[in-house]
Order: sequence, then C-alpha cells, then structure tokens
Amino acid sequence: MKILITGALGQLGSELAPALRSAYGETAVVLSDIRSDVNRALVESGPFFAIDCRDAAALAAVVSRERITRIYHLAALLSATGEARPQEAWDININGLTSVLEVAREYSCSVFTPSSIAAFGPTAPKDHTPQDTIQRPTSIYGITKVAGELLCDYYYKRYNVDTRGVRYPGIISSVTAPGGGTTDYAVHIYYAAVRDHRYECFLKGDSCMDMIYMPDAIQAAIDLMEADPSQLRHRNAFNITSMSFTPEDQAAYIRKYIPDFEISYNIDPVRQALANSWPNVLEDYAARVEWGWTPRYDLDATTADMLSRIAAREPTTVAPADC
Ligand code: SER
Repeated sequence: MKILITGALGQLGSELAPALRSAYGETAVVLSDIRSDVNRALVESGPFFAIDCRDAAALAAVVSRERITRIYHLAALLSATGEARPQEAWDININGLTSVLEVAREYSCSVFTPSSIAAFGPTAPKDHTPQDTIQRPTSIYGITKVAGELLCDYYYKRYNVDTRGVRYPGIISSVTAPGGGTTDYAVHIYYAAVRDHRYECFLKGDSCMDMIYMPDAIQAAIDLMEADPSQLRHRNAFNITSMSFTPEDQAAYIRKYIPDFEISYNIDPVRQALANSWPNVLEDYAARVEWGWTPRYDLDATTADMLSRIAAREPTTVAPADC
C-alpha cells in the first residue's frame, strides 16, 4: 500500500497523514498540497510535493514515481469560500477531482473523496435525512459535491476505479483549524471559550447540524477504504454522523467545564443561509450496515477532549475535564 494525500496540510489531512502512517508504515504515505508554507513540521515529516491537484501531469508524475496505489483526495474549497468565489470553487473542486480520477484510472489507484452534508439542499428531508433521497443543493460547494459523488460513481461503473467516499458533517478538531466553512463555528467556539470565556457566533443559536470529532472522521476514512467491496451497495458517498446539535446546545455543554462561558450572536447571512439549507440530522444506517461505521465521540466527549487539549496549549482557567 502506498498512499498519496492531496490537500494534506488542511484540517483533515494534517491529522489523517499521521494516522495513515501509523496504520500502514512511515514510508507508506506521500503528502501533497498547493501550499508548502504552512505546517512546516508536517511538510518536513516525509515525502511532500507542492502540487495543484488540477495539474494532472504533475499528479501523474508523483503517482508513477512513488508507485501510489491509493489516493485520499482532500483538496477542496469549502462552502463559505465557495460562495465568495464560485467559479474558483467549481474549478478546484471539479477539475481537481477530474484530474485525480483520470490519474487513478491510468495507474489503477483506489480513491477516497469526501462529500459533505452540503450535498443536500432545502428540499431534502431535514430530519433523519436518508442515504438515498433528493439532492438539490443551493450552494456552489454542495453542487460540486453532488457532481463529485456522481463522477466518482461513474468512474467506478465505467472504468472500475475503486472510488469510495463519505458525506462528512462539520469536522471538529484541535490541530489545524478549518477554513472557509459554515460549520467552522463549532471549532472556533472551543478556542474562544478557553481564551475569553465568550464567543460571538455567526449562526443563530438554534441552527442544528451534524458534526463529527476528528478521531471518528479519520476512522471512517480508513475503515471505508479497507471495507470488503462485496458488502458495499453504495460508494459515493455514505451519510455518516456522530452528533447533531445547535450553538445553544454546544454552549450548554461548554458551561459544564467553563461555568461563566457566554455566547452571543452576530449573524452572517451567507453562512446562515447555507446552514438553513442543510440537514438537521443525517441517517447513517447504510454506513453502519455496509462497512461497520460506529462513532465513538458524542458532544460531551468531544467537548471534554477539545477543551482539555486547547487548555494544555494555552494558559487558562478551564476546570479539569472530570469536573
Ligand atoms: N464543513 C463544511 C462547510 O462548512 C461542510 O461540509 O463548508
């Protein structure tokens, strides 16, 4: 097994890379990203290539030279950035994926591509959103995610490229901050809670969305790619979720550890519209049955772990996680 990660310096890649190295061996994982000026420790931790994923020739050169057999294609623009720069979002998200799939076809690689809760729109059922239901997203990010799911399925059916993916909820993590997403508030809130005991949220307090903590997001990416293909009735992409909550719910859990924590609201209409158009709670039965998806972290466990990790890095007054 030899793995290439695109977008490796982003929120998911920066934690997936070490996890894949401990699963498959230190020399089994090659990193790439359009940037090389962030996270120098990760850049210097092993083979790294500064590649724009839209450049199929550059990708092919690395895949061929490094004898890559699996690609985790994480490079993408997220939802809020996409609304600010829709043409660029289409270009990066669709042409980047197309070049990855073409290289995978030529060099017989399997491909993991994240989809998102944003692949659903306002006409999908909001609660217990089924695996197979109407997908009419209204954001450019969501449109690229639906097109990407279909393109990945097409490459599987037409060219037998082993494509698989999950529809990630908002990912909560403490190593690399997310950038340009609507669910980013659910990460920022923990940093602000530790530092200032207050947070100004850009979404309304009752905006409900699915979320997942990074260890579960990583486990999903590894387990799905290791799953027995004969058990997969779906491929691109599986609903998964660990928890579903509002900013108000999250603030209440934070108060268990920081009793004087305060949340206030200053609504960003663009991100509020995105949140309103996405599901409240996904139904993830297909992932559970077809490849054994079982999340470990709920909101309480996530909150305790996030606050203690951030507090360990910043001088703080947070009470210990077992209070
Ligand atoms: N986390 C993403 C975003 O907010 C949704 O998949 O854009």
